[in-house]
Amino acid sequence: MHRQYLYHAARKTVRVSGTTILGLPVSLALLGLTLTLPAAFAQDFAKNDARVDAILSQMTLDEKLGQMVQVDMGALHDKADVQKYFLGSVLSGGNSDPADNEPQTWLKAVNEFQTQALQTRLKIPLLYGIDAVHGHNNIDGAVVLPHHIGLGATHDPALMRQAEQVTAQEVAGTGIRWAFAPCIAVAQDERWGRTYESYGSDTALVGALGAEAVRGLQGDQLSSGPTSVLACAKHYIGDGGTQNGKDQGNDVCDEATLRKLYLPPYAAAIKAGVGSIMVSYSSWNGLKMHANRHLLTEVLKGELGFQGFLVSDWAAIDQISPDYKKDVEASINGGLDMIMIPAALGQPGNYAEFIADLKDLVNLGQVPQSRIDDAVRRILRIKVQMGLFENPWTDPALTAQIGSPEHRQVARQCVRESLVVLKNSGHALPLSKNLKHLVVAGPAADDLGLQCGGWTISWQGSTGAVTHGGTTLLTAIRQTVSSGTEVSYSADGQNLAGADAIIVVVGEKPYAEMFGDRTNVDLSVSDTALVQAAKATGAPVITVLYSGRPMVLGPVLKASQALIAAWLPGTEGTGVADVLFGDAHPTGKLPRPWPKNDQQLSAQFPSGKPLFPVGYGLTY
Ligand code: GLC
Repeated sequence: MHRQYLYHAARKTVRVSGTTILGLPVSLALLGLTLTLPAAFAQDFAKNDARVDAILSQMTLDEKLGQMVQVDMGALHDKADVQKYFLGSVLSGGNSDPADNEPQTWLKAVNEFQTQALQTRLKIPLLYGIDAVHGHNNIDGAVVLPHHIGLGATHDPALMRQAEQVTAQEVAGTGIRWAFAPCIAVAQDERWGRTYESYGSDTALVGALGAEAVRGLQGDQLSSGPTSVLACAKHYIGDGGTQNGKDQGNDVCDEATLRKLYLPPYAAAIKAGVGSIMVSYSSWNGLKMHANRHLLTEVLKGELGFQGFLVSDWAAIDQISPDYKKDVEASINGGLDMIMIPAALGQPGNYAEFIADLKDLVNLGQVPQSRIDDAVRRILRIKVQMGLFENPWTDPALTAQIGSPEHRQVARQCVRESLVVLKNSGHALPLSKNLKHLVVAGPAADDLGLQCGGWTISWQGSTGAVTHGGTTLLTAIRQTVSSGTEVSYSADGQNLAGADAIIVVVGEKPYAEMFGDRTNVDLSVSDTALVQAAKATGAPVITVLYSGRPMVLGPVLKASQALIAAWLPGTEGTGVADVLFGDAHPTGKLPRPWPKNDQQLSAQFPSGKPLFPVGYGLTY
């Protein structure tokens, strides 16, 4: 699998560079040369320690403990609690939005929290974090990129960097300088509800794309630059390796396997200068990652030399044991530096309780003062590196760039390169733009919410016109064909007859995290029936699949003249139309095996040959 990735990546590199021999593109891998991406050196955040320790030496214990707390916007009793508890960070979880979802409203809300932080005694600036996991996806009108599984199919690290530069500009446009991205899971089992958040099942591919995503968000170096946004590689470690793909489940493997499959992308992210890493909910051989001192401290901070800070996942420490105070002790002593707390005052595990418990543990000597100082040092290193003390505000001119045509063009290119043509009998594709009568069928063909998937405007995503500025595939098709082509739309599969070709768009409803866990990945009965009804008309059927993972196609593959895996393309449906009608040639390659049946859902233990192997993809 590793070899195949290098082959395609090299070919992509060769083609991009245009190097040919005897007029034929030659893959470097064929020549036995391995592809080495330009490796910028890991950043030395410790160079800030003189200044950081000067601040640290002035801090009270309360001020130190406050820096280690990140509270969800929706859980804060009052904005003034940022000042009252000396909070180091506030986040917006998938459903935590200000009054309305407009960029200017976000900018105002984020700045109000920053103002509170700057009114504390030492004026330590706040870091605001958000899940910008495929563009700035919480914000209305922002460009929504393809989810990672589609970006993995591009095998294009340079494009990854460009895509995350767009994300960083839009995130900074709302006053925010921390994105909980990239997810660098190496997803092993399609039943996992977060398969689409992973670039694929190939460790080398995930590492190469993840490193460039970090550079896209942060820049070559994390800095005070107006669009240098702190990246957060997640979720350490083995989030995508749990048994049967159960979200937040248990990885059962020896340490050599854990290291071989899941550690290289973190080494690559650290080499790219990532400033924060989020810990996984999952367990390894029964021990919660959030309490695994060996992997958090000895391996990640010691062996790999990670100098940034570790942030917990959403109320993840609460899962360690039934005793919250013990959870606080185990996670902080394990190596967590900042704790993400969504619980409001009065609820179990809320931010006041966390601070009181941790203060108690320090005073009792159960959590060493040196551990607290190390955690706060790591957090302050990053805030100093980002220049937040000199300038805690973002450039308001960036707000206007949110959803700009230039940004949408980058997203459109991501869509084009993400599409994988799995079948193209009789060169059905590319379609002519001059067909007399084209029928487009399926609810997903004209639904931005289905096109974007989960983590879009809301945590779970939803159907319908969820955001402004995007283009559904139906609209894009209408914009692409000639004026002489009649395009009729049938959401439910009625009136398909008389077409010169039928484009059927099928796929998954939006979901996120554990709500996407499945026991099988079969296409729905209604989707299968829709494709078969189209086939029955006798017209050539072009099936476009919107899904967060490969799906067992059953009779749909045979019933389709051509079939494109479009993954979850995001707002720019134009990129799909570009490939359908030949304005762009398909270059996407599978980032993970495509199962023939439900017995082949684990990339680690596939039974028999997959329907299509990693690296498969047709072109014109
Ligand atoms: C979620 C996810 C994590 C996300 C965090 C904040 O549960 O596991 O990826 O960054 O909470 O929304």
